[in-house]
Amino acid sequence: MIDNTEIKDKLVLITGASGGIGGAVAIQFASAGAHLALTYSTNISSLETLASSLKTSFPDLQISLHEVDLTIEESIQKVFQDVKKKHDADVDILVSNAGYGKRISEIWDIPSSEFDKMIDINLKASFLLVKGVVDGMKAQKWGRIIFISSIAAYGAGINGCHYAASKGGLNSMMMNLSSHLAEFNITVNSVSPAMVGSTGMIPDEDSVPGLVETIPLGRLCKPSEVANVVSMFACTGFVTGQSLVVAGGLKHL
Ligand SMILES: NC(=O)c1ccc[n+]([C@@H]2O[C@H](COP(=O)([O-])OP(=O)(O)OC[C@H]3O[C@@H](n4cnc5c(N)ncnc54)[C@H](OP(=O)(O)O)[C@@H]3O)[C@@H](O)[C@H]2O)c1
Repeated sequence: MIDNTEIKDKLVLITGASGGIGGAVAIQFASAGAHLALTYSTNISSLETLASSLKTSFPDLQISLHEVDLTIEESIQKVFQDVKKKHDADVDILVSNAGYGKRISEIWDIPSSEFDKMIDINLKASFLLVKGVVDGMKAQKWGRIIFISSIAAYGAGINGCHYAASKGGLNSMMMNLSSHLAEFNITVNSVSPAMVGSTGMIPDEDSVPGLVETIPLGRLCKPSEVANVVSMFACTGFVTGQSLVVAGGLKHL
């Protein structure tokens, strides 16, 4: 019988696992007994450190590392080939987390090349990633797709319209896919966080002066708190088409 609450021994592909949120998601899934295919772009040392600690703590898990440039379609295709080779299995859970967030607030300062880059990494890559995993999920009638979006999807946050557009598109794509893929027992959800510390985007409270004072809960979010929600979506197979805002009480609507 199909278990829609258990992720032990599933294979999860997590993009951007070299970063703050992706790394926390990898720890969460390893703790639940899932095998990991983890991607990085430039920061191999951060991912190697994480992988080596996970391999020590969870010696029975298969953990593979993959370089990818999400702006290049062939680079994404190579990840699928390598994951198949390393794990000899289809991806059960996709966490499309990697993202780019160069902070430029005002439209008159945003070059059109930055808009294109933002859309390529934050939106088009997720489309290509889903295309690459969906056939396997359909065949086995089990799949979980989770996008890391942002409070920016609702027009809020400290970044500009290029970032908002990429994350808004991601949430719309999530809702559309959830209705198309439900018949295959594939759920599609997103997490929309704000102000997550210990990340490349917001390393600590001092990286954006005055920011913490604007957050009703009075602190930055921890990457593990975002990872908890990702895990909840993976383990709760009756939830689909939802985006959960993790924003410390910040208004987003
Ligand atoms: N931090 C926040 O406050 C916050 C709030 C809302 C949403 N988010 C979202 O959370 C997600 C994770 O970000 P984070 O906060 O954890 O920041 P982060 O620590 O900077 O992580 C970003 C990750 O994305 C990867 N990446 C960036 N460009 C890439 C490319 N062209 N190809 C492949 N991978 C690429 C990075 O790889 P390398 O480091 O290896 O280059 C890194 O692993 C993003 O989608 C972001 O938009 C973050």
